[in-house]
Amino acid sequence: MSEQRTIDVAATQMLDKAKEIGFLTTFDRAKAQEPRCTFGNTGICCRICLQGPCRILPKKPGGNKGICGAADYTIVARNTVRYIAGGAAAHSDHGREIAQVLLHVAEGHNHDYKITDADKLMRVAKNIGVETEGRDVMDICKDVASAALAEFGRVDETQELTWLNAYSPEERLDVWRKTTIMPAGINLSLAKLLHQTHIGVDADPINIIFGGLKAALCDFNGQHLATDLSDILFGTGVPVVTEANLGAIKADKVNIALHGHNPLLSQMVVNAAKEMQDEAKAAGAAGINLVGICCTGNEVLTREGVAIATNFATQELAVMTGAMDAMVVDVQCIMPSLRSAAECFHTKIITTMPIMKIPGSYHFAFDEDHAVDSAKEIIRLAIEAYKNRDQAQVNIPNIKNKVVAGFTLEAILNIFGKINPENPIRVIVDAMEAGEIKGIAALIGCNNLKGTHDHNHTAMARELAKNDIFLLAGGCSAQAHALAGLMNGDAVKEYAGEGLKKFYARLNAAAGLTEELPLMFHTGSCVDYSRQQDFINLVAKEMGVSIPEVPYVVSAPEAMSEKAVAIGSWNVAYGNAVHVGVIAPTVGSQLVNDVVTKVAEDVFGGFFFWEPDALKAAARTVEIIEERSWKIAMRK
Ligand code: SF4
Ligand code: FE2
Repeated sequence: MSEQRTIDVAATQMLDKAKEIGFLTTFDRAKAQEPRCTFGNTGICCRICLQGPCRILPKKPGGNKGICGAADYTIVARNTVRYIAGGAAAHSDHGREIAQVLLHVAEGHNHDYKITDADKLMRVAKNIGVETEGRDVMDICKDVASAALAEFGRVDETQELTWLNAYSPEERLDVWRKTTIMPAGINLSLAKLLHQTHIGVDADPINIIFGGLKAALCDFNGQHLATDLSDILFGTGVPVVTEANLGAIKADKVNIALHGHNPLLSQMVVNAAKEMQDEAKAAGAAGINLVGICCTGNEVLTREGVAIATNFATQELAVMTGAMDAMVVDVQCIMPSLRSAAECFHTKIITTMPIMKIPGSYHFAFDEDHAVDSAKEIIRLAIEAYKNRDQAQVNIPNIKNKVVAGFTLEAILNIFGKINPENPIRVIVDAMEAGEIKGIAALIGCNNLKGTHDHNHTAMARELAKNDIFLLAGGCSAQAHALAGLMNGDAVKEYAGEGLKKFYARLNAAAGLTEELPLMFHTGSCVDYSRQQDFINLVAKEMGVSIPEVPYVVSAPEAMSEKAVAIGSWNVAYGNAVHVGVIAPTVGSQLVNDVVTKVAEDVFGGFFFWEPDALKAAARTVEIIEERSWKIAMRK
């Protein structure tokens, strides 16, 4: 574990405050876990059955296998793919909930939500083969929502997932069919994977990994439909200007943090807050101030320009400001410790989803059928909490940075289209072919306190930009850049290489935006990474190459969650090189580790590499991008 806790100055100030009041944060708890158990850390601890835990002790007679005889490769493969199952379940369930609401809207049962982006509905309908010609919008919507819901329950293994089929290039579909990883249904694939990895079922690591990749493709599918249907319900983001860091919390306002992942409630809170400013004023505040944490924050940032307070590892520190009146949380990446942090202050932690409760915190059962009323009641709880705020305890770091975000695929193509209206994607392909930019990298994923908070994200961004690599970003990685002041035009001037600067100059001249474009294009939350893959699919098509040939690398410099394992895995199946900034728990089996870091490239064109050192990882990323470019140039 690194000695420096965070690179974020505001977070450092709040960590000092936490120490002062005696609150142990996640940074203290991470330190307390050292030294880590080597068995768990390398993936050779099995807890799948009650005879376990079994640990692999290579030199001890009988100890080189589990009690059942499972070898290191079986144990490591099973552990790894079970991460994927967890991640794919989380993303897909998120998508299913959105689909359910969209269906209720289409059927006329739910009047609190509406279709906000009918054009997107039409595009999605056409892509997935729903008839649109001469049909009522609500009928089309019903078919789209039903098609999304059908992805979950399908059990006929001769069929294939609709979204995956509609949005992936034929060449990839063929690879997936040949390797038998093409899924039919999401629930089926996830249940099968849990079955496959039960004690005494599959011992073959390759077969287990293929089962895992099938689940990972379900993750992509669940993500894609979650993004599409959220855009239909809430609008497809366009470039927005806002700010990031704890300085976005306002001492004179009722502060509400929106934290988690699902936009169903948070979007309603944003809408309701616009109407309820007077209620906050009646309580003595200057109004209501919403800020975002993690991907719920990214959702409302992308669509509404809501400021970012902080990202995953520093969520407790938003409470330490003493000015957070309520933190409204939905699902995923919410630390249970928020409750204890809130006890030091007046903050109300409000859980809202039936599967996500924290003992001692306030649970408000969010009712989708009366979403507007639910959102209003939640805001009223925050206003009540504000009345109990002790202003003497308020200590908000005076740190915030300008952020330009909202780069959905549609928004990116719209900007490129200002230069080349007939063929927008040609703009970036031209820049690559001219050598102006070397290639593309996506910086994604979580925070992981095995390293210094936000160090790897920001160090990689600066290094890759210096090397003329065009950057996409999403999830908590995007927030790291935003918090550090990298997500604006000034950062382009400061950190971009000469070629990248030229590319930006042309884009800025044409884009017609009030603000200069930022150093990285923030595509949204972690459930929105399909926007990045769709972008790369267009690039590949325009270049006339397959996905594994595109000069593109995906990097999760501080990966942490099961979702990250699922995302990384579908990226590999898609043919992308994937950097992970922590040593993965596959290294306990040489065989499995070689499969995911080497053999995978022969089969899918994509592969993982582990590199905790940001500068070395950036150098390797540039190397991969250059190698892919050379291969394309040699062929021509
Ligand atoms: Fe041990 Fe096998 Fe049970 Fe795992 S499944 S805990 S290796 S006996
Ligand atoms: Fe996320």
